[in-house]
This record gives sequence, C-alpha cells and structure tokens, in this order.
Amino acid sequence: MAATTLVILGATGDLTQRLLMPALYRLHRLDLIPGLQILGYAKESWDRERFERHIQKGLRAFAPDFKPAEWRRFSRCLDYVAGDLSAGQLAALKGRLTPAALFYLALPPPLFGTAALALGEAGFAHSARGWRRLVVEKPFGTDLASAETLRTQIHRCWDEKQVLRIDHFLGKETTQNLMVFRFANRFLEPVWNTKHVAQVQISFAETLGVEHRAAYYEHAGALRDMLQNHLMQLFSLTAMEPLSTWDADLLRDHKVEVLRAVTPLDAGTVKACAVRGQYRQGRIGRSPVPGYRREPGVARDSRTETFAALRLEINNWRWQGVPFYLRSGKRLASDCSEIAVQFRKVPGPLPGAVAAGNNWMIFRIRPRECLDLIATAKRPGLKLAGHSVVLSAPYARDGEAEFSAYEQLLMDALSGERAHFLRFDEVEWAWRVIDPVLHAWQQGDPAFYAAGSEGPIEQQRLLAPGHHWRSIRLPAGAPR
Ligand code: BG6
Repeated sequence: MAATTLVILGATGDLTQRLLMPALYRLHRLDLIPGLQILGYAKESWDRERFERHIQKGLRAFAPDFKPAEWRRFSRCLDYVAGDLSAGQLAALKGRLTPAALFYLALPPPLFGTAALALGEAGFAHSARGWRRLVVEKPFGTDLASAETLRTQIHRCWDEKQVLRIDHFLGKETTQNLMVFRFANRFLEPVWNTKHVAQVQISFAETLGVEHRAAYYEHAGALRDMLQNHLMQLFSLTAMEPLSTWDADLLRDHKVEVLRAVTPLDAGTVKACAVRGQYRQGRIGRSPVPGYRREPGVARDSRTETFAALRLEINNWRWQGVPFYLRSGKRLASDCSEIAVQFRKVPGPLPGAVAAGNNWMIFRIRPRECLDLIATAKRPGLKLAGHSVVLSAPYARDGEAEFSAYEQLLMDALSGERAHFLRFDEVEWAWRVIDPVLHAWQQGDPAFYAAGSEGPIEQQRLLAPGHHWRSIRLPAGAPR
C-alpha cells in the first residue's frame, strides 16, 4: 500500500475507540496496512500523548488480542490534531497529509454535512498526485428530504465516486455470503423465486437495550436505526437478480431495482404492514432490566419504538406473492439474527408416515455466522418416518482468520473497492420505502413488550395465513 493518511474526524468519540481503532490495530498487527498514518482530529485540545492514552485504554477494553509490544509499534502510526469543523481550523491538517488520504466522519450525524463541506473548502477533496475519499457513517439523513439535503451539501465538494457511505452490515461474512452462496451454486437459482419460496424472514434480535445512546436513539428508533439501512440491505441482497459482470455499480443497480419494485406502503396500508413496539421492564436471562422509558436520557413518556417489523412485497416476476418480513428489536429474548428463506411444501403423497416438513435455508448472523439448511430426513428405525434435520455449515474452519465488518470495510475503503458501500440511490430508495411508515408513526403509540420476550404480540398481524414468526428463543442449530 502506498503511503496513505487516514484522518478520523471525531477521533475522541465512542465509534473510534470501540470499533475503528480495534479494527485498525488488528489490521496493523497482521501487516495489512503498511505505510498507513492515522491522524486523529477532534475538538478536545489534547496532545498526541493524551490521545494515545485514550486509544490505548480503548484497545485494552475492546481489542481481544492487545499486546504491549504490538501497541508500541501501532502507536508510532498515530498522531493527533485538535480543532473544530471550520475550514480555517481544518487547514492545520495541511502538510500532514500524503497525496492519498481517506477522511472518516466518525461524528454525530448532524455534523456530517458541515464536516464534508469544510473539508472541501479547506481544499482536501482533491489531490493532484493521489486520491481523496470520504467515509460517511450511518444514518444518512433522518428521512428522504434530509438525506437529499445532506447529499447536496456533500456534493458541493465531493464526487459520488469519492463518497463511501458505510453500512457495517455489508462487511459481515453472512452479508457477503449471500452473494457468494446465491450465485456460486447451481442448485439455488432454479428455486430462488415465487414458485418455490413461500416467505422470507429477516430478523435481527438483540438482548442489549439502548445503553448510553439515548441522545441518538430517542430520535432514531428501530425503524431508522436498523431497518432503513441494515435490514434493507440484507433484503435487497436476498432478492436481487444475478449480475452479468462483477461490477460495483451493477451490483448497486440491482439492489436499487429491488427497492424500486417494493409495493409502496401508504397511510392506508401501514397498519397492516408495519408494527412497532417499545420494551417494558423484564428480565434478560436472570437479570431484571428497566423499561425503555426508565433508561438514562429517555423521556418518561417517550414514544420511540425499540422494535419495528415490516411486511414488504416485491412486485416483479421473481417475487410476486412472496411476503418478506423484516423485524428488529432491542431487549428481546436472545441475540439471534438471520435471513430465513422458507420453501413451499412438497406436494404429496409421501412414503409411509413421512409428513411434509418445512424446508428453511438460513443465513445466520448470530449467535454465530453459519449457514443452516433445515430438511426432512428418515428417522432411524424400523418404520418409514421422517424428522427434521439441520445441515449446518459454519463459514470459518478452525484456525481460519475471520475479520470483523469494520476490518473488512476499512480495507475496502483504503483500496478503493466501492461494492460494499452504499450509493446515494440505495439510500434514497430505502427512505422511499420507509418514509410512509415514519409519517404514519408520528401519530399513536408503540405496543409494549416485556424485556426478554419475543417482541409485541401485534407483530402477528403482519403474517399471511399459515405463516409463523420463527422463534428467536431456541439455541442456534435447533430445528424449528
Ligand atoms: C448499529 C445500530 O448500526 O448496529 C445498533 O446502531 C445495533 O443499535 C448494531 O446494536 C448492531 O450491529 P452489530 O454489528 O453490533 O451486531
């Protein structure tokens, strides 16, 4: 890698300490980022030593493989500049940048536009002898209109090709495996359509509550925090058409095509197609936990949803008539996340006492990333009877290196691989799907569910006759 500078704006913040630095530390340890200088930039008037102490503390807490000797090597790549987000103060970075430089906005979302503009005004968006790129964290806007405003602000100085909108789910193994498994195997494509698929459930359940993030979450809620971005990406990758050539723009074209084919929701259909909930007090494992409204920083009468579920339909030849159920919630019964595709039942008759089972293909994200196929096989014994079996394939073999989503995406950003970053029209069309729900949810209240449960009972109303939500309680790999 040619000498490159990574400038992190918001370098004293939580994202940098918890996710970015541990990822960079590991990449450095594996010698994957030779020649990278990391320049922290934030408003705290710290010097380099103070910054290093802060980062070291974070690595001790969040990097599983922290070693003092490694740290000494890594810390030589670090530097720090204090300043605000004005072009005048950012100019202090001049003379410290290599021709190739990546700017990472690890800032509160309302500052993305200001920072991108100020970097441009300070002359950092172009380099005669190298390249300049800008990584923008999520959420990109809070609705369609604000996303468009932010886009205009950023594009005053930066071209679309320089802007890397990050959605860390695109760096997860399971997300990338959706593309590999779907398109690298002959047996899947013929059955990946409405003729053979009955329903798709995309669930992301967390036992965590709002933690220390109330200031952000109170305004975001589960729909903006998880569904508009992460789940919508899983959805479009599950449903998109095969690519004729492997090309970052074609991939994004195909994902947008899926979002454009979603049957639009409107004020009349939101009630039948969207459900929201908020957790009340309950238990996670054996520990009692407070309700959302009792969490620090949350309004006592907050109407923010901590659970959101949608039923979407795709109006095209491949998927017409197949419901896609998307749901995500905090303080649910377990950390269980998956993309589960259910196939239609086989027609009879079946031999002996065999009953037609439900075939599911499951791309599992949590508790561990793997692929499960639930099938019916003969139950051992004298009778010809069937039972459900799980063919389970973890991705990583023993000893094989796995990379976190941030490690993967930082490498992509540094090497200029754009396939796993969002183009603006993906963000735009995802907001077009979500906006009517946001609008409808300005009125009324979320349903309540007990912390540690499977979410609000109201989610049942989204299901088509004969469909059931997959339980999020059972251990991974158990047939359901
Ligand atoms: C983030 C959301 O983008 O994703 C969080 O803001 C959520 O609320 C998190 O907990 C889940 O992602 P991961 O990778 O930590 O499982």
